[in-house]
Amino acid sequence: MRAAVFDRFGPPDVLHVVHIPDPQPGPGEVRVRVLAAGVQPFDVGVRQGNMPWAKVEFPQTIGQEYAGVVDALGEGVRDLAVGDPVLGSTMLNGNAELLCVAAANVVRKPHNLDFPTAAALVAASQTASGALLELGVGEGDVLLVHAAAGSVGTVATQLARLAGATVIGSASFDNHSRVRRQGALPVPYGEELIAAVRDTGLQPTAALDGAGAEAIAQSVALGISPDRIGTIVDDKAAAEHGVRVVRAGRDPERLARVIALAAEGKVLMPVQAFPLSEVVEAHRAVESRHSHGKVVLIIEP
Ligand SMILES: NC(=O)c1ccc[n+]([C@@H]2O[C@H](COP(=O)([O-])OP(=O)(O)OC[C@H]3O[C@@H](n4cnc5c(N)ncnc54)[C@H](OP(=O)(O)O)[C@@H]3O)[C@@H](O)[C@H]2O)c1
Repeated sequence: MRAAVFDRFGPPDVLHVVHIPDPQPGPGEVRVRVLAAGVQPFDVGVRQGNMPWAKVEFPQTIGQEYAGVVDALGEGVRDLAVGDPVLGSTMLNGNAELLCVAAANVVRKPHNLDFPTAAALVAASQTASGALLELGVGEGDVLLVHAAAGSVGTVATQLARLAGATVIGSASFDNHSRVRRQGALPVPYGEELIAAVRDTGLQPTAALDGAGAEAIAQSVALGISPDRIGTIVDDKAAAEHGVRVVRAGRDPERLARVIALAAEGKVLMPVQAFPLSEVVEAHRAVESRHSHGKVVLIIEP
């Protein structure tokens, strides 16, 4: 099978596509023929060597989220059949034609959700839904989402709106119409953010930080209670300001709930697609921190 691998830590062009042996599913696992696979900031960190706890052995495959069809069943798997469309989280092997995962972690893909959008939603949905749960966001809240046009911000905004919250979302000016379409009031980030939030006339009651230290400090300065400020980016700044670090672990049931909303058209995710052969360009787009939608690799069967 073809897979994206890297042989040393470094810039995007350490990545290349090679042929490696097909993986075989073990007991309780399924093999998935991947048709679309997301690329995350986490993958960029792994490739750069900035995730010391990620078990890397060169040549190393990469990728944490996939959508595809079940291709083979390991011993004891009864709830899934060859040909079922599925999606889910995986560990360092998603950017490949085939991968093996525990059947228990697989989520069924609704037929009316396309494979690229399904792959695009995997990590962002679990992070966003877990963060909103941890922050207790609901009816009557005014949630400030930092990096609202990012993949996590996109899902968090829509889920918070569905839960009855008002959302203010920070983004660069080019993304303001997109943030508005997602249901949030757009504001710029950087030094104009605080004045722009005050200009809305709304007092934020909670904040989700997908940007970093400046956004955390601004959330505190806006008078949001520190226990309702959560970051998914900066543990050090969180400790300095006494705000929450949101871990929002992987949970197939939470993912399935967001996927069901996406299949109903209630959660949308714009996609910027690349063929697997352009994995270097895909990583460049994510590393730029200004991709035009969630970056997804398309893997032709
Ligand atoms: N994806 C996950 O499941 C996950 C899980 C845990 C942690 N994280 C972390 O959360 C962060 C966001 O992840 P993501 O997947 O949503 O990233 P993403 O899709 O690559 O989006 C990055 C966003 O950051 C915005 N941005 C860039 N510079 C900014 C600044 N100075 N202030 C505010 N916003 C800024 C960009 O907005 P504009 O394009 O409008 O400029 C862009 O929309 C990353 O640091 C990532 O490591 C992500």
